[in-house]
Amino acid sequence: MKNLEDLFEHQLQDLYSAEKQLIKALPKMEKNANNSKLKEAFASHLEETKNQKKRLEDICDQLDIDPSGEKCKAMEGLIKEAEAFIDEADNDKIMDAGLIAEAQRVEHYEISGYGTAVRYAKELGHADIAKELQKTLDEEYNADNKLDKLAEGRLNKEAMA
Ligand SMILES: [Fe+2]
Repeated sequence: MKNLEDLFEHQLQDLYSAEKQLIKALPKMEKNANNSKLKEAFASHLEETKNQKKRLEDICDQLDIDPSGEKCKAMEGLIKEAEAFIDEADNDKIMDAGLIAEAQRVEHYEISGYGTAVRYAKELGHADIAKELQKTLDEEYNADNKLDKLAEGRLNKEAMA
């Protein structure tokens, strides 16, 4: 990597790998969630995530780069941690509270990744691509806010019982 263009390319590939891994992991989180709103949140974010993956493919197509070729080790680690947690949760309430915690770690990781990608796209003069990446960034913020509301609303309180 020699310049910002190379670094931008690397970031896009990293995000692409992250989205692909998340598409595989979200159904397991949905399946293990007990609260219907939480299940719904995972299901709708799965559809969003598939669209985000497609968005990255389109962006890479425009830039004439291959989106694959990177393995996002951070997302791999976050998913491993979520899977380990699922095996350790002893009851429904703890499962839901912990799934929210794991999912928010994932969202925060993606928010930081897309935030960087938007900035690089702007700096490199790719205004249209920056707008596309911003759409994903907004979706990740919304997903995180939705999880926040679920945690604040009831799920953490129920887990105290
Ligand atoms: Fe995403």
